Amino acid sequence: MSNSPHCYDETALAAVYRVIRERRDVRSFLRTPVDPDTLARILQCAHAAPSVGLSQPWRFLHITRLDLRQKIHALVQEERLRTADALGNRRDEFLRLKVEGILDCAELLVVALVQGGAREIFGRRTLPEMDLASVACGIQNLWLAARAEGLGVGWVSMFDPLRLAELLRFPEHARPIAILCIGNVAQFDPAPRLALEQWRQPRPLSEMLFENDWPDGAP
Ligand SMILES: Cc1cc2nc3c(=O)[nH]c(=O)nc-3n(C[C@H](O)[C@H](O)[C@H](O)COP(=O)(O)O)c2cc1C
Repeated sequence: MSNSPHCYDETALAAVYRVIRERRDVRSFLRTPVDPDTLARILQCAHAAPSVGLSQPWRFLHITRLDLRQKIHALVQEERLRTADALGNRRDEFLRLKVEGILDCAELLVVALVQGGAREIFGRRTLPEMDLASVACGIQNLWLAARAEGLGVGWVSMFDPLRLAELLRFPEHARPIAILCIGNVAQFDPAPRLALEQWRQPRPLSEMLFENDWPDGAP
């Protein structure tokens, strides 16, 4: 524990570290429904995220129509095949991975980024992508809260944003950045699925933590 007087008590602190450690990207779901109050709570956590200039540039579309869910799934399948073709010699290996659970999950959200354009320059004048970073903070909050509630979340980013925007009648200044599959799970994986399936192994923090300037030859 730290020596700060504002530190959480030991049990609360352990829970925070635990949820960060045990959050996983999930692609296999049980069919059991998600309690609506729990869904509301995790959405409230997303909405509590930090945002550049307090711009709150997120919108959440709760997809409850089956026909829309199926169309979203079809868009993801198309992009999955395009991704596979672009991967060259890892094509078949990629196609064996499960990269979404859109038809299986209990709840489906599409998360949109609202682009404030030139009006929103607070904190974004030189780094316009800070609006995207803000929405990602919201998604991470939801992801962690969901894990603590025992719910799995899978972030799917394999889709053509223009076609998804058209399907969901987005205005011009908004674009979808995530499809979130949410639901109960049989179990949480002990490590990232991509590592378990030998797609890629995570590298340690020591390779990514530098002192002062960028070391020669560091990736
Ligand atoms: C921005 C973002 C986009 C992602 N898009 C996908 C995706 O389209 N399909 C997928 O299977 N996983 C996707 N993931 C999940 C990552 O593969 C996963 O977070 C990573 O392998 C680490 O695993 P973990 O989240 O279980 O720790 C995405 C994650 C992030 C942060």
